[in-house]
Amino acid sequence: MPRPPDDAPPGGGALEPPLWEQLADAAAARRAADPPNAERLQKVLAIRGYGSRRVCEELIAAGRVTVNGEVAVLGRRVDTEVDLVEVDGAPVGTKPGLVYYLLNKPPGVVTTAKDTHGRPTVIDLVPSEPRVFSVGRLDSETEGLLLLTNDGELANRIAHPRHGLDKEYLVTVTGMVAAGALRRLRDGVELDDGPTAPAKVSQPSPGVLRITIHEGRNRQVRRMCEAVGHPVTRLVRTRIGPLSDRRLKPGTWRHLEQDEVRALAAATA
Ligand code: URA
Repeated sequence: MPRPPDDAPPGGGALEPPLWEQLADAAAARRAADPPNAERLQKVLAIRGYGSRRVCEELIAAGRVTVNGEVAVLGRRVDTEVDLVEVDGAPVGTKPGLVYYLLNKPPGVVTTAKDTHGRPTVIDLVPSEPRVFSVGRLDSETEGLLLLTNDGELANRIAHPRHGLDKEYLVTVTGMVAAGALRRLRDGVELDDGPTAPAKVSQPSPGVLRITIHEGRNRQVRRMCEAVGHPVTRLVRTRIGPLSDRRLKPGTWRHLEQDEVRALAAATA
């Protein structure tokens, strides 16, 4: 049997790294597996309103909770800044009990909570609990993206004119819009409640405009187009600040992703 070299450490571990290196490596591995902001999953869920810790443990044990797309196991720790936590496929909100729905509103549905003529409302299209309200409004004939939430603070920030979140519309009008009318729409047109602010306007195909505005005046896009002689025949909102979704079917909704809620908060900070 060969003898260990004379300079081998005591114990004969010539090929093993020194103990301090092994301890440092183990600590680094622990830190990587358990980032500094990580908390137990059941605690994260309980704080966000999914019930007591016990109830949240049961949710996890039932396989209804995923972290970054993988079914979570009890004892899992997560950092909600980086990990995507979902319950039954819905991302958990960034604050306790808050929900954020992105709805693709179909035509003929009103944005008010109750309609005096008995027409369907956007509130009928999303879960009834917790109660939510729409952030801003769309005319009953307008289609497209509408945000609904019970987060009053974020809703106020979005609605505040100071933040002027961009809203983009795909607008079908009568006739092809000539260069002069496009310029007027871009520069601002005179409406009965004052001139409109400069807008981004393009005509991807004849009679179809893409208009981005950051004001939220009543029937603004319809009135702008009317003012330049091109009444609107179809109006679809395709973007609200950082939110867009080409695949969301009319009449359906989805939860906002955590990073979408953060992007909205950042855009209105
Ligand atoms: N502008 C309008 O004219 N109608 C809407 O619903 C939204 C913007």
